[in-house]
Amino acid sequence: MASKGMMPAIKSMLPAKLRTSLGDARRGVRNTFRAARKRIARADLYRLDTPERVGVVFTAPSDMRIDERLFLYSFIRGFKPQRALEIGVARGGSAAIITNAMEDNGAGRLVGVDPTPDLRIDMKHLHGRYTLLTEYSPQAIPAARDAAGGPFDFVLIDGLHMYDQVKKDIAGVVPHLADGAYILFHDAFHYGVATAIREAVEADDSLVDCGYLCRTANVAADRWTPYNGFRLLRRASASDGKSVDVEHVVGPLYAAAGRQRPPLRRDALNHDVWYCREVSPCERCRAEASAGNGSTAEPLAKPDAATAGSSPVNL
Ligand SMILES: C[S@@+](CC[C@H](N)C(=O)[O-])C[C@H]1O[C@@H](n2cnc3c(N)ncnc32)[C@H](O)[C@@H]1O
Repeated sequence: MASKGMMPAIKSMLPAKLRTSLGDARRGVRNTFRAARKRIARADLYRLDTPERVGVVFTAPSDMRIDERLFLYSFIRGFKPQRALEIGVARGGSAAIITNAMEDNGAGRLVGVDPTPDLRIDMKHLHGRYTLLTEYSPQAIPAARDAAGGPFDFVLIDGLHMYDQVKKDIAGVVPHLADGAYILFHDAFHYGVATAIREAVEADDSLVDCGYLCRTANVAADRWTPYNGFRLLRRASASDGKSVDVEHVVGPLYAAAGRQRPPLRRDALNHDVWYCREVSPCERCRAEASAGNGSTAEPLAKPDAATAGSSPVNL
């Protein structure tokens, strides 16, 4: 076998072309290993022992930043919309993120509106939760509502980023929102988008501005305006007013779990299951204990099957 010291001599005997290709191959292998190592050492996400489809945020063909993709996925997972609208589809990246989160929820439909979509995803990866209308917003919004089966509880506006168009998109969408619906704007740092949002909020008391939730602006894409950013509006529900009423929100969740909702009482406001058990019982726990109908606090409940996997409820 050739010793290490002989390698340069052997190499020099090889034709120059072969030497170059061997060098390229070695560099290629080294780069592949480096990339693989970097990927493996990345976020704990890859190590989660979970059937969640959160990995879609890495593969979806979209111009959204990673923080925006993660926010969008998490928002859909958490809020659990039943009927969603997306204005601006392009390659289908945001559609993939939303429908995969819906599939994880076990509920939800998304209708996309775009006159010239360029889908780069396999429809089967949208889990039968997607309808595409190859039409313009705002004209197509009533048909989108029909396709969704009712008023929208979530809308992503990411169509034409021009003040005039965003104004029309918002005006077109508002009459088709359910109480408590959210409107999420992408590229919300764009001056035209931001101005249209501000004017809509100022003109309509039912729209609550939740501000910029993803706030890394792309200041290099264009000379005249920044891009990227997520901004959220909420349509206050008639029953809640400007602020959310917790009883209204949790009522259907208790019902879905087949449990009776504990009444919201003044003497339970300073109750905390851990504090009452480990440190000192609250007024309510004390009263209950002295009446002899309960311990100072129930043990911390493990999430049971009924609540952990409860069917999503339209809030
Ligand atoms: C920024 S891309 C959408 C990206 C997509 N939401 C994603 O992240 O994967 C904007 C899209 O809006 C579409 N568009 C332009 N004018 C529109 C309109 N009036 N109604 C609906 N879509 C429109 C364009 O065809 C383009 O595909």
